[in-house]
Amino acid sequence: MAEHSGPRLWITRKLTDNTMARAVERYDVIPNPEDRTFTADEIVEMSHKVDAILPCHSEIFDRDVVERLSDRVKIVANHSVGTDHCDLKAFKARGIVVTNTPDVLSDATAEIAFLLLLGAARRAVEGDRLVRTGAWSSWSATFMLGTQVTGKNIGIVGMGRIGQVMARRCHGFGMKVHYYNRTRLAPELEADAIYHDNLAGLLAKSDFLSLHCPAKPETTGLLNAKTIAQLPDGAIVVNTARGSLVVEEDLIDAIGSGKLAAAGLDCFQTEPGGNPKLSAYENVFMLPHIGSATHETRDAMGFRAIDNLDAYFAGNEPHDRVA
Ligand code: DGY
Repeated sequence: MAEHSGPRLWITRKLTDNTMARAVERYDVIPNPEDRTFTADEIVEMSHKVDAILPCHSEIFDRDVVERLSDRVKIVANHSVGTDHCDLKAFKARGIVVTNTPDVLSDATAEIAFLLLLGAARRAVEGDRLVRTGAWSSWSATFMLGTQVTGKNIGIVGMGRIGQVMARRCHGFGMKVHYYNRTRLAPELEADAIYHDNLAGLLAKSDFLSLHCPAKPETTGLLNAKTIAQLPDGAIVVNTARGSLVVEEDLIDAIGSGKLAAAGLDCFQTEPGGNPKLSAYENVFMLPHIGSATHETRDAMGFRAIDNLDAYFAGNEPHDRVA
């Protein structure tokens, strides 16, 4: 790492080589080449050594941690669009600037949402296992029938940047797009999507349901026994947003009873790890929180976080300030 007198920056996790190369141009970086995770006490301890922190969603800045951060820390420039790991109110109270990385991961995340949608609908887990294990011994016209995607209704909860990209991908597959959002989109953004001003209205129409809203107190447990019951029988659910949006036990019950035909999940209540009860079902297609995990997007996220740091240390308002 180059030696210089720039602000001292703790990059909590191992980021892409391109991100690290750019970071050391301007900052005196404390890296984490072993990519280990840190406890709350370790985060507080490290904060005394740095002017800025560039964390991932894996570092939890709850009220207790934020209140104990050193006065030396001026900005926390997240390498994530989600900020549910940060108590933004507590950060505001401390006067510490917080930023995130919107826009740059929308395409990659929508790709994973669509992969999960297709994989869940067309029985990817089961099919892969059959071929991979040598258990594929017959074929018939009624073998491994799945749910056709083309022509179906997709309900999108949260029509922000990622939801809008997902809507365009769904249109490309001949799906009819419905959405629920706090506010209706402008006509040019809405395209052919049909707006619902309440969740129940959206659920009733959703052969497929894809979650794209942020994790907040008001969206916690949004998908639960009651809301799942409002979906058509045989619906398929996709979650690339956050595990906290779904009451996992209720989802498991609905998969077990056949109310839901399948699910595609990139997010879980427990991460890392997931939920072993879900693993019992081959109609649940699961990925380990890799929505934004492409070379291109992880570079772009790193650069965006550094752009925010650069703006702050140049005395300007960071573009993606959230606190
Ligand atoms: C995000 O950006 O919020 C993704 O979940 C990766 O952290």
